[in-house]
Parts: sequence; C-alpha cells; structure tokens
Amino acid sequence: MAKRIEVECKYEEGPLGRYIIVPKGLYNVVPDTTTISGVDPTGQHTIYRGYTIADIGEHASFYEAAHLFLYGHLPCEDELREIKRKIDTYRAQVPEKVFDALKLAAKTHPMYYGSYAVTLLGQYYAPEWRFDDDFLYEHALRLIAAIPVVFTAGWHLAHNGTFIRPDPNLDHAKDALRMIIGRMPSDLEARAFESSLVLYMDHGFNASTFTVRVIASTLSDMYSAIAGGIGALKGPLHGGANEKAMQMLLEAKEQAEKAGKPLEEYIEEYLLQKLARKEKIMGFGHRVYKIHDPRTDVAAKFIKQLPDGEFWLKVLKKAEEVMWREKKLPANIDFYTGVLYYQLGIPIPMYTPIFAMGRIVGWTSHYIEQVKNNKIIRPTEKYVGPTGLKYVPLEERCKK
Ligand SMILES: CC(C)(COP(=O)(O)OP(=O)(O)OC[C@H]1O[C@@H](n2cnc3c(N)ncnc32)[C@H](O)[C@@H]1OP(=O)(O)O)[C@@H](O)C(=O)NCCC(=O)NCCS
Repeated sequence: MAKRIEVECKYEEGPLGRYIIVPKGLYNVVPDTTTISGVDPTGQHTIYRGYTIADIGEHASFYEAAHLFLYGHLPCEDELREIKRKIDTYRAQVPEKVFDALKLAAKTHPMYYGSYAVTLLGQYYAPEWRFDDDFLYEHALRLIAAIPVVFTAGWHLAHNGTFIRPDPNLDHAKDALRMIIGRMPSDLEARAFESSLVLYMDHGFNASTFTVRVIASTLSDMYSAIAGGIGALKGPLHGGANEKAMQMLLEAKEQAEKAGKPLEEYIEEYLLQKLARKEKIMGFGHRVYKIHDPRTDVAAKFIKQLPDGEFWLKVLKKAEEVMWREKKLPANIDFYTGVLYYQLGIPIPMYTPIFAMGRIVGWTSHYIEQVKNNKIIRPTEKYVGPTGLKYVPLEERCKK
C-alpha cells in the first residue's frame, strides 16, 4: 500500500512574485481536491467514491462501477437499467464515417486509433460544445460506449481489412472482449476481463487523468481532453507497462526453455541480469503503492481460474519475491493484467487500449468534476536559459 514519502518544497523569489519550487515529477504535489478516487486518510486503501478499489474491482459490474464514478453512488435497479441501456445502445451507434476513417489508418500501435477516432467522434457527436449537466453526462456515456468499438475496429481493419461490429444485446465488457478476440468469451473470461476494466477505471491524479484535467481546465471539449489522455496513457511508464511486462515474461520464458529450466526458477536469474544492467523492470514500482498494489490480489484470483493459472501465479510470485528482496519494489496491476490478457488470448498490442477501455470512466468523471469547479491549470516555469541575446541576420550568424 502507500508508504509515507517525504519530499522537499522550497520558496524562491521569481519575476512574478514568490515561487513555490515543487519536486520534479510533481511528487506528492496536491494541485486540487477530488471526491472521485484517491488514497484514504489512513494511507491504507485506494478509494473509489468511498469504497476500496479491491471491493469494487472484485464485485461490481462495469455498469455499476461506471455509475458509481459518474454519479457518485452505486445504482439502484432503475438507474442500473438506464445506464446499461444507454451504454449498450451508444456502443452500436458509432458513426459509419469513423469506421471509414479507421480504414485509412496505418498498421501501427492501436493506441493511435483511439486518439484519432475520439477526435472524429467529437466532430460528429458534438460540433458545438456545452457545459450543462445533461450534455456532459450524455457525452461521457457515448465515449465510454465507443472506446472499445473504435480500438478494436482500428486493430482488425489494420490487420484483417475488416472489423467486428458491436452487439448491443451483449454486456459491455463481454462485447468488448468478443470484439478483441473474435469469438464469444465464456462467462468466466468475460468476468475476469470486466473486473480488470473496473480495476483500471480510476486512480487519483495519475498522468493521463491529470492530462485530461489540464485540457478540461482550458474549457476545451471532452473529446479533445480524452484524446490527450489516451496519448499520455500510451507511454511505457504509464499504461504501456502491461504490454512491456508481458513481453518481458515471454522473453524470459523463451530463454528458460532454451536453458532447459522451469520459468518459475529461471525468472530470478533473468531479473537479476536485467537489474545488473540497470534496466527498469516493467510492471514494478508505482507512484502511490510503495509496498503493495491491492489491485493485484483481485487480478490474481482470476488468473488462478484461467488456463495455466497456477503456473503463471508461481512465476509472478517468484518475480515479486526477487524484486522486493533486491529493490523493495512491489508489482503493480500491469504485471498481473499482462498475464491475465495473455491467458485470454488477447494480442499484446491491445493491452494498453484495454486499459483505456476502463480508464475512460475515470477520465470522463474527472473532466466533469474539473469543469464544474474550474480554474485553468497553468503552472509557472523557472527559466534557467540564457538572456540578453540579440537577433543576428542569417548571413552573419554562422560565419566560420
Ligand atoms: C511507475 C514509476 C514510473 C513510478 O515512478 P516514481 O514514483 O517516480 O518512482 P521512482 O522512479 O522515483 O522510483 C524510485 C527508485 O526505484 C527505481 N525504480 C522504480 N521503478 C523501477 C522498476 N520498475 N525497475 C527498476 N527500478 C525501478 C527508480 O530507478 C528509483 O531508483 P533511484 O532512487 O536509485 O533513482 C516507476 O516505478 C516505473 O517506471 N515503473 C515501471 C513502469 C511501470 O510498471 N509503470 C506502470 C505503473 S502502474
């Protein structure tokens, strides 16, 4: 869980007044309050609107958790029916022109398809942006519904020249997984996938959510803010880690096979070699969780029930033991979801888009919270470059 972190903050006189010099990376800097999610005052739990992340991740459906984030409470029956009806209907209403545009996309990382398609969705759904409640919630639900559709369509179009259409009669998570893997998932597979989406839904002011809030704070539209969030999530230090973690485990597996050793033993040697080369181990470390990431416990319960579950859990536990002994770093959710998605037969480049299929709920909730109590987020820099230079015409500038 969270550990007490002490960081220094200094004051300096600057050209615009008294400057607060905060730690690089905004470590422990609190730019605003939120009631959506965060570490509770005891530092023991990450809280989703009052509930622990593990409680909601293990028990809530996608629709229940989405309702909790957007509207602040778990839904009653009629509210649940309504949010389900809207998400399922909107999932099947992605404009045909968005699919046409995705046909033009290059065969590249699928995270590009999301940011590209989301800005198009904005153009079709909301050419004029407004800030009244009905409008904001309507577009939050449209985005939540459309994200799996556009990512999976982009992926299949680039690889197979065709795509799988959404089925509004299926539950959102099950349909998303069906569109990714191209077959009807079992109930267990669908629930494991759904739980991972809920675990990914939100996490305080993480980098992509903060990006969304910065864009929202300029009073730009929700679609532009989400496109920015997708860009931030793509990075390997954030959402991209689940792909890198699984690639690393597969590399270790291949090496173990060549060496004739079981992976659950060989993983130690593999990690020690990487650490000796001062390489980062993807899927370990976290800005908030310095001792344990509780989301991994929920993911582990599903990993256990899926193919080769016992084997993968032994490998994960051994890796955690080594990383804790050597670096005092815990595994994060991405180390576990990498394996879970591998068990579900999901292509590795789709792992980060799946993170976005969950996090879209947090992003849209934060967008709404930001614009409802807005102040533009605009820090001040400390300029340390040269001053006093004078423009020199080109012909005189680079004389030897
Ligand atoms: C997540 C992450 C960006 C958090 O960064 P942070 O809060 O700034 O933590 P720090 O980078 O300050 O880490 C503290 C120390 O542990 C080291 N460290 C952190 N994560 C590491 C990792 N995955 N492998 C090896 N060393 C790591 C850092 O190099 C640093 O060492 P130093 O003090 O000798 O410089 C970082 O742990 C990381 O890059 N992890 C790998 C990517 C990943 O899994 N991201 C998904 C997060 S959900």
